[in-house]
Amino acid sequence: MPPVWRCALKICAALPISPISRSTTMPLHEYTTVTSVPPPPMNSVRSIAVTGGKGGVGKTNLSVNLSVALADLGKRTLLLDADLGLANVDVLLGLAPKYTLADLVAGRCELEELLIEGPGGLLIVPAASGRRHMAELQQAEHVGLVNVFNDLQRDLDTLVVDTAAGITDSVLTFCQASQDTIVVVCDEPASITDAYALIKVLSRERGVDRIQIVANMVRDANEGRRLYDKISRVCERFLGDVSLNYLGAVPQCEWLRMAVQRQQAVVRAYPASPSARAITDIARRASRWQAPVEPRGTVEFFVDRMIQQRAMA
Ligand SMILES: Nc1ncnc2c1ncn2[C@@H]1O[C@H](COP(=O)(O)OP(=O)(O)OP(=O)(O)O)[C@@H](O)[C@H]1O
Ligand SMILES: [Mg+2]
Repeated sequence: MPPVWRCALKICAALPISPISRSTTMPLHEYTTVTSVPPPPMNSVRSIAVTGGKGGVGKTNLSVNLSVALADLGKRTLLLDADLGLANVDVLLGLAPKYTLADLVAGRCELEELLIEGPGGLLIVPAASGRRHMAELQQAEHVGLVNVFNDLQRDLDTLVVDTAAGITDSVLTFCQASQDTIVVVCDEPASITDAYALIKVLSRERGVDRIQIVANMVRDANEGRRLYDKISRVCERFLGDVSLNYLGAVPQCEWLRMAVQRQQAVVRAYPASPSARAITDIARRASRWQAPVEPRGTVEFFVDRMIQQRAMA
């Protein structure tokens, strides 16, 4: 089946009505076969998008290290590289994927075949680098990519999504489809204005009204808090309905740069370093977030699992 059609079907599959209408039109013999051995419903997955607006603020390093730290805390974690045109999660972890999301979109492989294993059993969905068409997918295809995860038969607790820089449709759709959005900011004017612009577009156009802020590359804890206060003041003034939460700060850290050179997660290579400790604290906080119980009626990762859970309740 051509990939675009497959995406379109996935979009339909996301509508809460579809499982009911599918079962009511199913021939009786099939119905009996399917329902006689019902598969146990898989638990809901907490999805967290990592974004920031500006390029180079540390989104990928936070995504990778947060994911490894979550896996080390016992959370079954999947890391999706959603920087579709300039992916580098695999590079940061020294992995050599056989397939990427570009192969999935072209119909050359299934999602399951894409998965590669990282530190601590972390699962990774790698994307391609230098494939311009992947950076130019349409909104329906982004929605299709979100819905493809409904087919994944893996028990998971958390999905972390590393997004691209900017406020393109891919960034907005992947954030909209996640329960939480972490916005990474640095203490420089362009990062602060870009973060604000992103939060504004996410709230006005995609209904994202809850944002977690991580201050990266800070000199001390006060700088992180001050940075958060600055953004929070502007958001309160101009975007009254968005609630911001300060998730923490990651210091500017030479150990993190050395880990990048070694193509390892800093939480593994130098677990006692300031950045590793800060990211592990953030992971501990995020690990306490509850998995969703209700579909929100919009594009959403793993929405089928929520529908199944509700049907079983
Ligand atoms: N806390 C930190 N301390 C020191 N260096 C850091 C820190 N966080 C990120 N960096 C460095 O900043 C650079 C950019 O990081 P990263 O690739 O994670 O940013 P990004 O926001 O994902 O970039 P892009 O927008 O290009 O995807 C890297 O060279 C990384 O080593
Ligand atoms: Mg990146």
